[in-house]
Amino acid sequence: MRGKFITFEGGEGAGKSTQVSLLAQRLETLRLHVVVSREPGGSAGAEAIRHVLLSGAAKPLGPHAEAILFAAARADHLRQTIKPALERGDWVISDRFADSTRIYQGVLGNVEARMIARLEKLTVGELGPDLTVILDLPAEEGLARAAKRRGDATVDRFEGEAFDFHKKLREAYLELAEREPNRCVVINASADAATVSEFVWAAVNARLNPAAAPMVAAS
Ligand code: TYD
Repeated sequence: MRGKFITFEGGEGAGKSTQVSLLAQRLETLRLHVVVSREPGGSAGAEAIRHVLLSGAAKPLGPHAEAILFAAARADHLRQTIKPALERGDWVISDRFADSTRIYQGVLGNVEARMIARLEKLTVGELGPDLTVILDLPAEEGLARAAKRRGDATVDRFEGEAFDFHKKLREAYLELAEREPNRCVVINASADAATVSEFVWAAVNARLNPAAAPMVAAS
């Protein structure tokens, strides 16, 4: 039986990576095999493209080219990591996925929705997520958290965008959740990590019922 595919989305500093690992731990207590991944990245080819994108080297090419590069990375991530894992019956959790391209390049980069949809059809096809958790946080809180986490390190290509960008980002995610309520769940990420993880766990249980999933054989 195919495993389940869960993605986490949200703005900077929403706590995605913490919540991804807390959810993975909880699923593992049910003796499920869990593959944790991230985008851009998640496979050797995609990690190479990640470097090009996050260093800002692709910025002069414009948001269309960046959308194509994110999609190319995603195609490799799906082929090498996600698809084989789901076919084995594993559960896959990805820190960001195709919605990030819809929002960052599509809504904020003004790449036409038709092009984004075509890229998504070509690369993702039927392998889209069963559940997308959108961690929602006011832009000021997210940016403050991201700055604290970063310390003295320099901002990356997308963290360096203006405040207004991050505000629009939040609105765009909330609109997406309204358009696709069957797949998306919005979680208030302002609380502490343990509390947020309870909200996430409740949503995953309500939507995907992991306790009923076939367990992996004890090794
Ligand atoms: P990352 O360091 O993984 O940050 P975060 O903790 O915010 O996930 O950087 C990923 C950056 O790439 C993030 O700013 C969002 C951006 N991004 C896109 O613009 N489009 C995409 O399709 C993806 C997957 C990410």
